[in-house]
Amino acid sequence: MRTREFWRRDQVFDFMLPPLQSRELDLSHGIVLYLENVTVSFDGFKALNNLNLYVNSGELRCIIGANGAGKTTMMDVITGKTRPDTGSVFFGQRIDLTKYNESEIAAAGIGRKFQKPTVFENHTVLENLELALQANKTTFATLFARLNAEQRDRIDEVLKIIGLTDQVYLRAGLLSHGQKQWLEIGMLLVQNPYLLLVDEPVAGMTQQEIERTAELLLSLAEKHSVVVVEHDMVFVRSIARTVTVLHEGSVLAEGKMDEIQNNPKVIEVYLGSELTA
Ligand SMILES: Nc1ncnc2c1ncn2[C@@H]1O[C@H](COP(=O)(O)OP(=O)(O)OP(=O)(O)O)[C@@H](O)[C@H]1O
Ligand SMILES: [Mg+2]
Repeated sequence: MRTREFWRRDQVFDFMLPPLQSRELDLSHGIVLYLENVTVSFDGFKALNNLNLYVNSGELRCIIGANGAGKTTMMDVITGKTRPDTGSVFFGQRIDLTKYNESEIAAAGIGRKFQKPTVFENHTVLENLELALQANKTTFATLFARLNAEQRDRIDEVLKIIGLTDQVYLRAGLLSHGQKQWLEIGMLLVQNPYLLLVDEPVAGMTQQEIERTAELLLSLAEKHSVVVVEHDMVFVRSIARTVTVLHEGSVLAEGKMDEIQNNPKVIEVYLGSELTA
């Protein structure tokens, strides 16, 4: 277990918790995310089983593992969608994520991209980014609100990052599948998250879109910490720094891609089938 200055659940009462947005994210130990001994059971079945995972600040981490290994459940726990039965989940040194709800966690700087793109198809690319920027307001209020200069600059910056500057006035419904995925990543980026969780980003993409997505995610790391869950091993190999292999709700192995690919346990339970697939 790594060192963390403990701000433990059992030391504070709920009513003493400050609002999450007013709490400074403390990255003094260089770790943005701590999961320690996290267990999640569904009717007695342990989807996560004593999971320990640490993500460094500014890191790009790939998570792989067979279907049902617990990857999505892990993201559900980080984002407050699922509460762990046991264990702790900390954002930086002091923010106990198990104490907050999904929207509080999103507002505090953890953005999550689900597998299916969920852009507003009838709105333009620009409107989608504007809506995301002011996600806590109603759609009506947002569309008529004037953006300030800083927000406009951020949107321009994000359009460049996701490569959709030329499509800014295009209806999102007319974008390709890959472009919709990038727009959705852009909708997270306008909020400037510390941590981005991306679940199976390249499923259904063309080869060219996959390569573009690899560049995009690589360019995001360092400014943001990025956790990518993906089955496409060619893609993982192209972006991987540190890879974590989940198996039956726990970490089976963790390390550089080469080490992982040559790890007999990993080959036995996962890579053997993926690599020949
Ligand atoms: N809400 C739920 N109720 C019951 N069982 C669940 C629930 N959510 C997940 N599970 C089970 O927990 C296990 C882990 O599921 P999870 O979705 O986290 O796997 P995964 O690693 O994301 O798999 P995949 O690669 O197929 O997306 C699976 O056996 C799944 O059936
Ligand atoms: Mg999943």
